[in-house]
Amino acid sequence: TGAITMDPGYKNSGSCLSKITFLDGEEGILRYRGYSIEDLAEKAHFLEVSYLLIFGELPTAEQLQQYETDIRKYTLVNEEMKSIIDGFPKTAHPMGVLSALTSALTAFNPKAVNPDHPKELYESVCKIMGKFLVIATWTYRKSMGYPLNYYDNTKGYVENFMHLMFQLPTGPYTPDPIVINALDKLFILHADHEQNCSTSTVRMVGSSHAGLFASISAGVSALWGPLHGGANQAVLEMLEEIHQNGGDADKYMAKAKDKEDPFRLMGFGHRVYKNFDPRAKIIKKAADEVLSTLGVDDPILAIAKKLEDAALVDEYFISRKLYPNVDFYSGIIYRALGIPTDMFTVMFAIGRLPGWIAQWKEMRINKEPIGRPRQIYTGYPLRDFIPVDKR
Ligand code: CMC
Repeated sequence: TGAITMDPGYKNSGSCLSKITFLDGEEGILRYRGYSIEDLAEKAHFLEVSYLLIFGELPTAEQLQQYETDIRKYTLVNEEMKSIIDGFPKTAHPMGVLSALTSALTAFNPKAVNPDHPKELYESVCKIMGKFLVIATWTYRKSMGYPLNYYDNTKGYVENFMHLMFQLPTGPYTPDPIVINALDKLFILHADHEQNCSTSTVRMVGSSHAGLFASISAGVSALWGPLHGGANQAVLEMLEEIHQNGGDADKYMAKAKDKEDPFRLMGFGHRVYKNFDPRAKIIKKAADEVLSTLGVDDPILAIAKKLEDAALVDEYFISRKLYPNVDFYSGIIYRALGIPTDMFTVMFAIGRLPGWIAQWKEMRINKEPIGRPRQIYTGYPLRDFIPVDKR
């Protein structure tokens, strides 16, 4: 075991050199390619930010327009994909369906992308950016039994999300621009977060030179878990439970602190942030704005605020540096926008897609070696084989 250093959960291991995202967990700082998350959330659009993450610089107006047009070109999803969706039960969790569909895209786009060929790479980026949005919304349409929608070329990318989700054949559908703005901001805030669980998964899978779509599909599965992206769904379910049980936040605070109780305060704590998650700050403000502009009076928001206030002055949370994270308030906005709870993590995935692509690209272009951690064996020493009739 001499040379092997144990670091379960890679709490202290750097896995790569990266130029994409800067994160200072002690200070609560997050920057994409050098631009502060506050600036980007306020002043940029999601596609612009995706371009920045993937290609390294903010696009010129011309580049951005071309990028949007190129993404649009690839939003048609192979019709045979529909029969794959039809095979799922309506009750299937959208994240499971999304991961399977993303993997299935590989079957319809079998040519491996050459990361050193800029044009091929650019086309694959546009392809996955276009198709992923469409199939992500199809997971919802399927669960509702609605006909599947196609991308509307007259609308922008984020607006198309709402169109793909909610446009029904029965009548016109025009989402409030406030809704589109809020979504755009949320996608930006989720777009990258350096070597988190799903991103590390994408890099790890890609490091075997598995294709881009297969690597992204693995990222979707990693994101699904409640300790990672699945926390946004878990937060809302927790807040609803507290609400239904009379709004007793203190009881749940006590449960979270009880080491005998597996319950955790969902949406609190972070592997890297030992300070306020800067994304949570922006989302909290946005939640207030969206709810008041849309005239939504959600009792869940009051419970969230109560929990936050209690945790911020609680010795258990203070000593462990547990602050609200990005998932704490995002669900409240999604709910106000009419997005069902089991789609929350899909929303995260749509936002995180550019980060996964950027990290996959960087890993391949830097010619990183295959990811292959070591272990310390703690099992049996050599044993004699016992034939089945003697066991
Ligand atoms: N509620 C109660 N106690 C907590 C919580 C929580 N949410 N989070 C951490 N702790 C305690 C934990 O029990 C441990 O206590 P002790 O030192 O007494 O054993 C201490 O704080 C350190 O926690 P850890 O589990 O060792 O920390 P970690 O870095 O392995 O885990 C985490 C980070 C995010 C998985 C964890 O804080 C957690 O489970 N939070 C709830 C789920 C959540 O909100 N996840 C979203 C993360 S942000 C967005 C994303 O990645 O998708």
